[in-house]
Amino acid sequence: MRKVAASILGFSVLTMQERIIAFEKAGIEYWHLDIMDLNFVPNLSFGLQYLDSLSFTCPLQVHLMVNQPSILCEQILHKFSNLRENLDCVFVHSSIDRSELEKTLEFDLPIALAINPEVQVEDVKDLLDKVGKVLIMGVNPGFGGQRFMSSVLEKVIKIKALKPDLELWIDGGINAETILEIPEYVNVVSGSYLNKLDNLEEGISVLSKT
Ligand code: DX5
Ligand code: ZN
Repeated sequence: MRKVAASILGFSVLTMQERIIAFEKAGIEYWHLDIMDLNFVPNLSFGLQYLDSLSFTCPLQVHLMVNQPSILCEQILHKFSNLRENLDCVFVHSSIDRSELEKTLEFDLPIALAINPEVQVEDVKDLLDKVGKVLIMGVNPGFGGQRFMSSVLEKVIKIKALKPDLELWIDGGINAETILEIPEYVNVVSGSYLNKLDNLEEGISVLSKT
């Protein structure tokens, strides 16, 4: 059974905490928190203070779609204890400035690597030894509700062959149809698909068992 993380990007702020509770009751195992800076991606989402004020029971994946993740890592480490104590991992993107990336990898936090659709495995080969998880973007980061690009699956096969022990995740465009293309050893993030369902329990089970 693969792991499923739910993205809160599409939740309304008016019902945010209720939705978190409903998803946890329905059996979600991980939360995926998308942070955007209107720079690395053409969108803004939420900041650390807002996220830290929410109440989560499941472990948190913080996905930093930002050019300077080290600033936010510093704050997670020293300021936002709710986030830090529930942290599963912090995904940082391989396509940011190299010295900023290396600085971020040094933090005493479970830093993991996210790779954009255009990034090739060869471009990140040396980084794969430095992390325990890789998030392969199935869409260009910045927005929920986009169409999954099946071409990224080639990278899954390549990374699995190179580093069989790495935990692999796919983020973006995952739903009841696209999950059929995903190998069972790959975990998935889902936003808009799960958020639209009436029967959340069934939706989570479709993604984890298919
Ligand atoms: C995209 C985000 C994703 C997004 C997933 O920039 O990183 O995590 O919330 O949403 P869906 O499942 O709707 O593609
Ligand atoms: Zn994400």
